[in-house]
Amino acid sequence: MKQNDFLQNWRKKALDKLKNQGRDEYLLEIQLLIEHCTGINSAKQLWFDKELNNAELERLNYSLQELLNNKPLAYILGEKDFYDIKLHVNQNCLIPRPETELLVDTVLALTNKNKVVNIADLGTGSGAIAITLAKHLPHSQITAIDISVPALEIASRNAQLNGISNISFHLGNWNDNLSDEFDFIVSNPPYIAEDDPHLANLSFEPQQALIAKNNGFADIFYLIDNCTLNLKKDSYLIIEHGYEQGQEIRKYAENNGNYYNIKTLRDLANNERITLMQKK
Ligand SMILES: C[S@@+](CC[C@H](N)C(=O)[O-])C[C@H]1O[C@@H](n2cnc3c(N)ncnc32)[C@H](O)[C@@H]1O
Repeated sequence: MKQNDFLQNWRKKALDKLKNQGRDEYLLEIQLLIEHCTGINSAKQLWFDKELNNAELERLNYSLQELLNNKPLAYILGEKDFYDIKLHVNQNCLIPRPETELLVDTVLALTNKNKVVNIADLGTGSGAIAITLAKHLPHSQITAIDISVPALEIASRNAQLNGISNISFHLGNWNDNLSDEFDFIVSNPPYIAEDDPHLANLSFEPQQALIAKNNGFADIFYLIDNCTLNLKKDSYLIIEHGYEQGQEIRKYAENNGNYYNIKTLRDLANNERITLMQKK
């Protein structure tokens, strides 16, 4: 009969395997994996030892193998922290990135929590942007759109888990079915070119959330052209994009002719990350 392992022994062997793969965050990854599979918190893991039962050992080995196969930890744990909320994630939605917090901060800086504002989040994915804004702007009314049914299911579940009720979720292609006028339209659309080598490291995430035609610009340009229909005068379109796309996007928005005050903001790594513009 196969002998069960002990927690400290398993932990040491797992750390060695991840370290040998050259991973930077292997200590944190193992901590979170053990907590997820056994319920033993990170502080206790350092000194506590026990014989692992079959179910625990199976869960640990399976999850470790997924990690070694480069599945993102957020998908293994089924959750990701974003801004000040926790979101459920699975392979039907993009894992929310810290860079996107800049988009949230930008909206929050342009309004205040007592104002009644109408916001559309186009391509909501896990609901990260919509839910965070809904939490911090409790008088806002938010419309969240996605073209993916399973992503919308995760987003509405995340809204419920975070006690949010001021978002309505809809299936749709960008703003095509919207008739309202909004104070803010925000979007983190797909913006990676079809032949971008970075895609090789993103194979677990939905390609529909990542890739855009026209060298990564197709969806961004579509939003710039079409969102004018649903923006009030002086209201904002705010788009997240790739770090090398800012200049091209400013030029396109300028040529569109319906916007003023077009500017790009940089993220914490000093990369151009979001471009905002106001409707004339
Ligand atoms: C980069 S992900 C952003 C997800 C989320 N907003 C975030 O920031 O983590 C882009 C999202 O746009 C959605 N999407 C792609 N094409 C779309 C379209 N034509 N209309 C609406 N949503 C679309 C994808 O399904 C995906 O959820």
